[in-house]
Amino acid sequence: MWRPLSREPEHGAKPDLMGQPEQRGSPGRSWCSGVTCVPAAPPHAVSCPLLSRWGILFSHPRDFTPVCTTELGQAAKLAPEFSKRNVKMIALSIDSVEDHLGWSKDINAYNGDQPEQTLPFPIIADAKRELAVQLGMLDPDERDKDGMPLTARVVFVFGPDKKLKLSILYPATTGRNFDEILRVVDSLQLTAYKKVATPVNWKPGDSVMVIPSLPDDEAKKLFPKGIFTKDLPSGKKYLRYTPQPE
Ligand code: BEZ
Repeated sequence: MWRPLSREPEHGAKPDLMGQPEQRGSPGRSWCSGVTCVPAAPPHAVSCPLLSRWGILFSHPRDFTPVCTTELGQAAKLAPEFSKRNVKMIALSIDSVEDHLGWSKDINAYNGDQPEQTLPFPIIADAKRELAVQLGMLDPDERDKDGMPLTARVVFVFGPDKKLKLSILYPATTGRNFDEILRVVDSLQLTAYKKVATPVNWKPGDSVMVIPSLPDDEAKKLFPKGIFTKDLPSGKKYLRYTPQPE
């Protein structure tokens, strides 16, 4: 389990529980610069669990809830795929470590595995919603029995430079598609290192598109497999495809 230490609100202001509207759904561009994470056990501090890896932080409304259980079950099954892509997985739910341990047993049993209290990734115990508020993760429409807001289903993907690369926000009532999240990671990792973009419904192995800012002569040198354009009524050659680079 990773326990976040406090991060000072900007300008020293205490955020209200829902956070500032403009902060919701976005932690800003940098992760870990102001958040220190320590493992609950063993008690040696590290500055950041992401280090030089990619990272995914995904929040959950509550422990022992049905949709979340199916999502975490699927996330556990896909953990080897995230690991292959050098992506550190971190979940967050607004309950205690004890609840997380008990819930993990249920999740493993749901997957048909031994009901052990460990999962292949840590779950941040954000029982006081401190991190959820700071990262704008609360869902204004879903509340618990005491009227307190629950966490929405937020996905943040961070690059090895610790900057936010992608954020997706689902309401608590809609479960995520973790195959889509893996597809998005594949696109992020490809486009981070090559001057390409991935078109609609792209999947690994499909052709990619040359980014608009790259001039034709440079593109020809960069992509020796060739560039294919589609004729358009405008006569502009902006639909430039190339086979996925290695
Ligand atoms: C669920 O995980 O099933 C859930 C949690 C909060 C609101 C709706 C559904």
